[in-house]
Amino acid sequence: MTGSMGKPAIMGGTPAVPKDLVKKWPPVGERDREMVLGSLAGEDHAFGPNCQAFEKEFAAWNGNAHAINTNSGTAALHMSLAACGLSAGDHVLVPAYSWSSSATCVIHHNCIPVFVDIDFDSMNIDPDAIEAAITPRTKAIIVVHLHGLAADMKRILAIAARHNLAVIEDACQAHGALIDGKKAGTFGDCAAFSFNQNKCLCSGEGGMFVTDDEEKRKLACQLWSFGETRTPAESRDYHAYALGWMYRSNDLTAAFGRAQLMMLDEYLETQRANAAVMLEELRGVEGLILPVEPEGYTHNWYNLTPRIDMEALGWDGAPVRMRDAILRALEAEGVPVLVWQRFILPAMTVFQARNAYGRGSPWAEHDAMDIDYSPQSFPSALRHCDTHFAVVTPLRAPNGPDVAEVIAKGIRKVIEHAHRLDVEKILA
Ligand SMILES: Cc1ncc(COP(=O)(O)O)c(C=O)c1O
Repeated sequence: MTGSMGKPAIMGGTPAVPKDLVKKWPPVGERDREMVLGSLAGEDHAFGPNCQAFEKEFAAWNGNAHAINTNSGTAALHMSLAACGLSAGDHVLVPAYSWSSSATCVIHHNCIPVFVDIDFDSMNIDPDAIEAAITPRTKAIIVVHLHGLAADMKRILAIAARHNLAVIEDACQAHGALIDGKKAGTFGDCAAFSFNQNKCLCSGEGGMFVTDDEEKRKLACQLWSFGETRTPAESRDYHAYALGWMYRSNDLTAAFGRAQLMMLDEYLETQRANAAVMLEELRGVEGLILPVEPEGYTHNWYNLTPRIDMEALGWDGAPVRMRDAILRALEAEGVPVLVWQRFILPAMTVFQARNAYGRGSPWAEHDAMDIDYSPQSFPSALRHCDTHFAVVTPLRAPNGPDVAEVIAKGIRKVIEHAHRLDVEKILA
C-alpha cells in the first residue's frame, strides 16, 4: 500500500498516499445521531438538559468542581479573565505563538496582552522568559498547552505564586494532556476548552469553562449570560448585575458533545498510538526536528508538528520559502498537512496597529502604547512559525496505525529529497 521511497510526486514520482486513504474527523456513529435527534425531539433547544448534563460529565471527566458550557473556547477564555477578577488596564502575559484568541480574549476584557517568547523545543511559553516580562501591572498569565503538550506548570505555578499572578490555562487543544497523571485544566485558577470541529472533542462549535473555585464560577457565570447571577436552569430575574455577554451553548450542540465525550478516551488512545507510529518512522530523518514529549508528560497529539532543520538541509534562504516548497511537495504526495499559524501573535495587525476598539483603545487610555510587540523580540516563536508544518487528521480516529505509517513514509520521502527541490520553481 505504501508509495515507494522513489522520486517525490512533485518531481514526477508516484504519490505515497492513495486518494481517500485518510478518513474524515470526527467519526459520527449511531449514538451521536440518537442523542442529537433526542435533543431535537425534546422541548428545550436553548440551554437545555443536555447542556447541564454535559457540564457535569465534562467536569467529572476532567476532574474539576465546576464547568460552564459555552459556545466557544474563546468565550471560556474571556470568562476566565472575569473569573480571575481582572480589570481594565491590567497586564496579562500570553505566549507569543498561539491561536489569535489566546491573546485577543485579553483585549475583550479591556486588559493589555504582554507577550512572552516560546521555548522552541516544547513550543509552549518559555518559563525562563516570563519574569522579565512581568510589569507592575501584571495580574495574570495565560498558559497555552499548545498542540496537546502541557506547558511546564511546575515552574509556571511557582513563578505565578512569587508574583501573585492568576493562572489561566488555555486548554483548548489539550483534552487529556497530562503531567504526572494530572490533567490539563486542573493546574491553574481556571481553564478554557474548545469543542470546535477540529478539536479532540468536537461538538461542531462549543467550549467549556472549568474551575474548582465557587467564587470564580459565579464571576464567569455572570459574564456568560447577560450579567445575570442565575443560570437559565434557575428562576431568572433577567437583571444585569454586571457587564455580560451571551456565551451560552445550546442543547443540540451539547447532545453531540456528550456523545463524543463518551468516545474521547478511546479517540485519545488512537491519537497516541498513531503518533507513536509516525514518530518511529520519522526518527532520525535528517532535516526534521520532531516534537518532544518530556519525561512525566503525556501528549494528547492534537496534532503532530515537526519543524524543518534548515541548516541540516543546507538551505540558507528564507526558511519560510523552503518550508512552503516542502508543503507543496507533501501536498503532491497526498499527505494532508497544514501550516497551523503563519503569524506569531504580536505580528498580527490588531497588535501592530493597536486597532482593537479604535483610537488606540485599550492601549491608549491605559498608557500602554509602548508595550513591545516587535516580532524580532520573539525569535523562537518566529523560527517555529516559519519552519513548522502540522499533521492533524491522519492522527485521528477512525484512522489507525496503517494510515499513520503511510503518511509518515510520505513525509520521509519528501524530506529525504528536500535538498533537491527547486524551491523558486515550486513557489513561482
Ligand atoms: C490554543 C487555542 N486557543 C483558543 C482557541 C479558540 O477556541 P474556539 O475556536 O472554540 O473559540 C483555539 C481554537 O481555535 C485554540 O487552538
